[in-house]
Amino acid sequence: MSTPETNITHIARRMLSAKAEQFTESVIREMTRLALKHNAVNLSQGFPDFAAPLEIKEAARQAISDDINQYAITWGAKPLRDAIVQKFHRTQGLTIDPEREITICCGSTEAMMSSMMAIINPGDEIVVFEPFYENYGPDAILSGATPRFVKLQPPDWTYDEKELAAAFGPHTKAIILNTPNNPTGKVFTRAELEFIRDLCVRWNAFCITDEIYEHILYDGTEHITMARIDGMRDRTIVINGMSKTYSVTGWRVGWAIAPPETTQAIRKVHDFLTVGAAAPLQQAGALALSLPQTYYDNLAATYATKRARLLKILEQAGFIVYKPRGAYYIMTDTSRLTLPQKYRSSSETADVSFARYLVEEIGVACVPGSSFYNDSRDGASQVRFTFCKKEETLAAAEARFAHLHP
Ligand SMILES: Cc1ncc(COP(=O)(O)O)c(C=O)c1O
Repeated sequence: MSTPETNITHIARRMLSAKAEQFTESVIREMTRLALKHNAVNLSQGFPDFAAPLEIKEAARQAISDDINQYAITWGAKPLRDAIVQKFHRTQGLTIDPEREITICCGSTEAMMSSMMAIINPGDEIVVFEPFYENYGPDAILSGATPRFVKLQPPDWTYDEKELAAAFGPHTKAIILNTPNNPTGKVFTRAELEFIRDLCVRWNAFCITDEIYEHILYDGTEHITMARIDGMRDRTIVINGMSKTYSVTGWRVGWAIAPPETTQAIRKVHDFLTVGAAAPLQQAGALALSLPQTYYDNLAATYATKRARLLKILEQAGFIVYKPRGAYYIMTDTSRLTLPQKYRSSSETADVSFARYLVEEIGVACVPGSSFYNDSRDGASQVRFTFCKKEETLAAAEARFAHLHP
């Protein structure tokens, strides 16, 4: 029987976008809200809880004092575009044109969305490795792309070449790559990139490569941008940003590097989505990208220490850990740990119950593995932790894990 309430729901449904109905709120960001509610140690969302570099903050203050307070050029302030050109050349050996190949956006999140909206047509497919950074699912829905998922298999998160080749076809518009990878910490090797290149060339597809963790590398691994692989310069869109490298996730400054024609389309979408990223923070970005190599060496060394610390804490607590080669997350398997009876539920996957138990009773927030998979059952025994946190935060998590019983 229809009640006033169901009528309202019915009307609301018709009034709302079918696209928006297809995905849920971000699980990662929800976990941060739960961490606050339960006063838990937050090892869920990937934002540093320590200060950003002094000189970058000073540059932002100075930019506001200097009255850089109005719209920047929609595709980005010239000093920041020039700094990106110099840094990309210094780190990857590629020369790009600041006038025709860069779009500064509101974070790499917007750079990814604008890029996808700029290239996707109805019927287009995108290939996505899973587990994947959760934004790529809604990005696909909002841009109208149909995702084809290809598994990365633990412990080394390798892909099966046949499975990857089978995911490509005449409708493939792009593959989404994320190296160094969130959530797995995988860093794609040159051989893997070349295999992907061959498929992109064969099927005339783009590679959109999210390289936001490019400087957070361990064990001598090297970050190679797909744009540097022979034959890929003209079909690669590089997504990057300030958030992770300079510990300023709240500044919302990111960018897309793409060939001129593609950039033209990205710039149009970007302009009408957001007009532009915060002008004074773009100005400070120019200074950030000019920091010396020692800054990046220190960043990687600091995170290597934090990685070792959290690996040990999690192993001692009973998790099976997958050692990351890059980025600042640790994927774990929870199958050696027992879940109290009251958290066993048939209405949610085990990882979600486990994450609830951990945040509510143990006092540590993590991200349920299912949020990184298309089929939530695939992540049912996994949860992800981040170590971009102060030593005291990691120590607090260690103390709380003492109450977790293997
Ligand atoms: C792989 C990946 N891409 C993009 C982002 C978001 O970046 P931004 O802050 O530049 O929007 C994140 C944040 O966690 C991420 O892990």
